[in-house]
Amino acid sequence: MATISSQQTHIPKTNNEKEEREDYETTYQKYSEALQTLPKERGWMSEHLVQYQGYWLSPKSALKGVLLVQHHFKARPTDIFLSANMKCGTTWLRTLMFATMNRSRYDFSSQAHPLLNTGPHGCFPFLDASIYQNYPINTNLDALPSPRLFATHIPYTLLPQSVTSSGCKFVYIWRDPKDVLTSLCHFSERIKHKEVTSLSLKEAFEMFCEGVSHYGPFWDHVLEYWKASLESPEKFLFLRYEDLKKEPSIYLKKLAEFMGQPFSLEEERYGVVQEIVKLCSFENLSNLEVNKTGVQWFSNELVVDNCKFFRKGKVGDWQNHLTDEMKERLDQITKQKFNGSGLNFGVSPK
Ligand code: A3P
Repeated sequence: MATISSQQTHIPKTNNEKEEREDYETTYQKYSEALQTLPKERGWMSEHLVQYQGYWLSPKSALKGVLLVQHHFKARPTDIFLSANMKCGTTWLRTLMFATMNRSRYDFSSQAHPLLNTGPHGCFPFLDASIYQNYPINTNLDALPSPRLFATHIPYTLLPQSVTSSGCKFVYIWRDPKDVLTSLCHFSERIKHKEVTSLSLKEAFEMFCEGVSHYGPFWDHVLEYWKASLESPEKFLFLRYEDLKKEPSIYLKKLAEFMGQPFSLEEERYGVVQEIVKLCSFENLSNLEVNKTGVQWFSNELVVDNCKFFRKGKVGDWQNHLTDEMKERLDQITKQKFNGSGLNFGVSPK
């Protein structure tokens, strides 16, 4: 059975706690059993990926996270999720969401603003990793005030029903897959375990096209959220990294409205929108001391230097890395997958 060292030394104090502990142990048991049987492929940053209900997940953190969320997360109808596949711009959007929701609480220019000293990923939980991955040292998600903000990479169909049918809202961000692949290749190389052999660009490209990437297939991840958004448009805000880069103020206003915190005319007049855009800009965040030298501890299995979440922050960097044939093939797959869905590379409606 998969255990975490501290689990063995923890003595439950109450009946409730005992039951809770038994529940968690059942999930860990399921997790261990799943690991024995699931299809495996070579990993990008972990030794391998396993395929669970159609998606490729890292066994130690993502698969465990999905199972824990499915069995133990208690959603509230007021929860707001920032969902995305990897490398689509969650670091950025997370800061925009946090700064917007907390704009009356923190002064943007004060050093006390959490974004200036805790790093983007410290400002609200990455659900997949903070849900009792380190049980019993639990991050008490139940104690967070509403509306709670969570980030997740979990594909829509792997989310528990309590999340998908309880009125929770989703801000989904996606990006040109050519830039996703480029960003993912660099990120994997920078954070992979030492014992994991580097993938060449050619190998990474083939795997990405086959859908074998973290939380992949990339296109299925986007499409599932997109289809759910067509069914319940009031619950989804669909954003593209490219659009956000081009017109951040316009999309930030949409975001604030969607989260139930629209900017007042007075705030707009005082330039609050622009201040948030500036605070969360790549240039500002990537140059902060906390993001140059700090570390984000997501779980025992997932500790990442903050600087690794910042690379170039540009649209179209794929042009410096992918060949013409790679571009053609990725565009072809995207066209084929998104055909008839209403999703395309054009500018999203404002
Ligand atoms: P590049 O590798 O193309 O530079 P995620 O946060 O989902 O992991 O996505 C990472 C990508 O977002 C990286 O893209 C990173 O540089 C970029 N990024 C991080 N912070 C950003 C910001 N404030 N503004 C724009 N892009 C940002």
